Amino acid sequence: MKKLIFITGASSGIGYEVSKEFSRQGWNVISSARRINLLNNLANTCKSYRGDVFPLKLDITDTATLKKKIYLAIKKYGIPDIIFLNAGTNNPNSKKILSVEETKKIFNINFFSVIECISIFLPIIKKKKNCQIIIMSSVAGYRGLPYASAYCSSKSALTSFTESIFNQCKQIGVNLRLVNPGFVKTPLTDKNNFPMPMIITAKKASKILYKKFIFSKKFEINLPIIFCLIMKLLRILPYSIYFKITNKLLKSL
Ligand SMILES: NC(=O)c1ccc[n+]([C@@H]2O[C@H](COP(=O)([O-])OP(=O)(O)OC[C@H]3O[C@@H](n4cnc5c(N)ncnc54)[C@H](OP(=O)(O)O)[C@@H]3O)[C@@H](O)[C@H]2O)c1
Repeated sequence: MKKLIFITGASSGIGYEVSKEFSRQGWNVISSARRINLLNNLANTCKSYRGDVFPLKLDITDTATLKKKIYLAIKKYGIPDIIFLNAGTNNPNSKKILSVEETKKIFNINFFSVIECISIFLPIIKKKKNCQIIIMSSVAGYRGLPYASAYCSSKSALTSFTESIFNQCKQIGVNLRLVNPGFVKTPLTDKNNFPMPMIITAKKASKILYKKFIFSKKFEINLPIIFCLIMKLLRILPYSIYFKITNKLLKSL
């Protein structure tokens, strides 16, 4: 029987390419997002591959229908071996100090909807052995960056939340993992009007992610590795040095 992966945010960027890669490798894929036309195109593109792609129209912020839609998909296609909670958003380039509305909107998608998904999937997949829930966070969650307060804090909250529940999930047989990428070229990063060092294509990211999901057991998945190591180094700098660096960054943006 073919293995099954459930992916959120599969209509473009990383989720789209990961759907293709898993299908190519012979996995069946439940590819979900709001734009069903893009998911149908994805399913067509993957028709010649070894695994099937099942498009699923799903808005992760729609709490009224989220659980029902996930349950229906599972009834139809089975319990996934991997759940990749990848959907997320950003609204870069705002020069405001802060926007409460924007921050709430980004948190709703990047944080609250993701934990809603985890809470729906946990009781379902603990019945199945060797399941993984893989959360898409970001190296942007390591430390606060200029002009990215909402995005950084939403990803930081997600990382911290995932770390907090890791051991309890392990106790019930669920392997919780975290993806912290650097820059990947997607519609999300196409909105950025600043240089993105060491950026990789979504296709390359999908190949790395496939290997890491299947052959590695590490909690944290980083890509591309050198950029992520630099970001890890920034994480341990004292504030006196860190704020000098971010001040330079602020002036250059
Ligand atoms: N690209 C990078 O450099 C980078 C780096 C670190 C982390 N990430 C993270 O990687 C993830 C994927 O991003 P991406 O770069 O591939 O961007 P993207 O191409 O914009 O993809 C975002 C995906 O999320 C979906 N989505 C957004 N809101 C949703 C909602 N309410 N319900 C369901 N799906 C929703 C979108 O589909 P619909 O609009 O069709 O719903 C789309 O498929 C995000 O969590 C992002 O934060 C990206």
